[in-house]
Amino acid sequence: MKTHSLKKRSDKFRIISQTGLLLISLTASQAYGQNNGGGPPPPSGPVDGGPLAGLPPDLLTLFNDGKTAFESEETPEEGLGLVFNDNACAKCHSFPATGGVSTTLVTKFGRINPDGSFDPLVAFGGPVMQSKGIGQVSPTVVIGAEKVPLQANIVVKRRTSNLMGLGLVEAIPGNMILAEAVRQATLSPKTAGHVNQVTNMRTGQSTIGRFGWKSQLGNLYDFSVDAYKEEMGVVVAGFSTIDPSTGASTLHPFPNGGDGRNPSQENAPNGNAALLAFDPIPGPDDENDDSIKELANFQALLAPPIRGKSSTDSIAGENIFNSIGCASCHTPKWKTATDHPIPAFRNITFQPYSDFLVHDMGKLGDGMPEGTAGPREMRTAPLWGLRFQPFYLHDGRAKTLDDAITAHAGQGTVAASAYSRSNADQKRKLMAFLSSL
Ligand code: HEC
Ligand code: HEC
Repeated sequence: MKTHSLKKRSDKFRIISQTGLLLISLTASQAYGQNNGGGPPPPSGPVDGGPLAGLPPDLLTLFNDGKTAFESEETPEEGLGLVFNDNACAKCHSFPATGGVSTTLVTKFGRINPDGSFDPLVAFGGPVMQSKGIGQVSPTVVIGAEKVPLQANIVVKRRTSNLMGLGLVEAIPGNMILAEAVRQATLSPKTAGHVNQVTNMRTGQSTIGRFGWKSQLGNLYDFSVDAYKEEMGVVVAGFSTIDPSTGASTLHPFPNGGDGRNPSQENAPNGNAALLAFDPIPGPDDENDDSIKELANFQALLAPPIRGKSSTDSIAGENIFNSIGCASCHTPKWKTATDHPIPAFRNITFQPYSDFLVHDMGKLGDGMPEGTAGPREMRTAPLWGLRFQPFYLHDGRAKTLDDAITAHAGQGTVAASAYSRSNADQKRKLMAFLSSL
């Protein structure tokens, strides 16, 4: 049990989930925002890993509490394991600041059946492999790393992605993302992407996927539940809702996901349920989801990566990016909802360079279906923060930007060929643009 989750924080904020959007509703901050349209000026100059600009003090407190939870290193006595990949979110999301990227790759496995259906091999510890165990738990039993089981016929690597700015992505109205898919299907059917329809963990209903290499999860709350369990082995008892009139909190059990997994069920090492008897905390590790709310709030309030300096070359490079077809998937600009319940999130224009749709990338696809994303379909990788990345593409296979672009296959082939045909001066300008993101 995490000690800090014992403190009752739920009275300080509530999370309402209707459309899969994470909403932190704070009466005080709403009043604050409505009065002056923003909070105090940001602290001494923006830094990567800082909060969104102009947050009122109560939201800044949530950001700071959330950051503490995100950086907090768990021990087996607090819920870590039995098997896990690391002991804190910030161990992987670390560069150039908490919430960023790292070179860490995570392994996923499963089985494609002869009829094409996908089995995440839950009974054998799938679909995420945990590369560490908590160690000696009895004189004769040591919990070690999981192995890819023999039943698996597909194994993929996924690179740690950047979380800075994801609260703004969550605040894009779902109908704008749907409209972008329709626009692409009408204007450029050959390269059009589609929404990955995924399951909302709390409602069990279909929602628009936005997060992860295949847009496989719809909101930051759900991603936090999933990452807490799959990367750290920490599971929470259920999700809570707060009655706005009385402030009373109710805990609800999570429904099972589409693949039969339950977010509150501890991962048995490679599916060996007998080993669960050695879990220092039998059953859920946290009695409520306060820690999940803290993690989700930190990510929701984390500012986008600060854009590097632009130059004549980078400006010319962006024009080339647009003219050779890169922007047809890497949508430069989005705007958050005008009626977002939290004023600090309203009407913000930002530049993630992604449509958050999945595209058929041919042989670049990783082969693993997730939600309604087929084996070859991948989410257009957002390009903000590109200059911090140690290497590129979902499995980190590309060491240079040139490698990353020329690896675009399937629906990306035409743009990649247009890039290859560009002259040295045009390529230099395009690189100046990409390196400024
Ligand atoms: C062992 C390394 C590791 C740890 C620990 C880790 N992550 Fe991640 N994270 C990853 C990888 C790898 C991905 C890409 C996963 C994918 O899309 O399949 C990722 C992706 C994400 C995303 C999606 C970002 C996007 O681009 O849409 C979110 C959100 C996230 N992690 C949150 C968390 C939270 C919260 C924690 C702590 C509970 C955490 N992560 C712990 C490695 C890690
Ligand atoms: C058909 C849609 C599409 C087009 C067109 C497209 N991309 Fe991409 N791009 C993607 C997808 C999808 C990914 C993620 C691929 C993966 O790793 O699985 C990606 C990844 C990238 C990456 C790697 C990002 C990272 O974080 O690793 C870069 C860089 C990139 N694209 C640049 C470009 C440039 C430059 C062009 C124009 C020449 C372009 N893309 C055209 C869909 C597209």
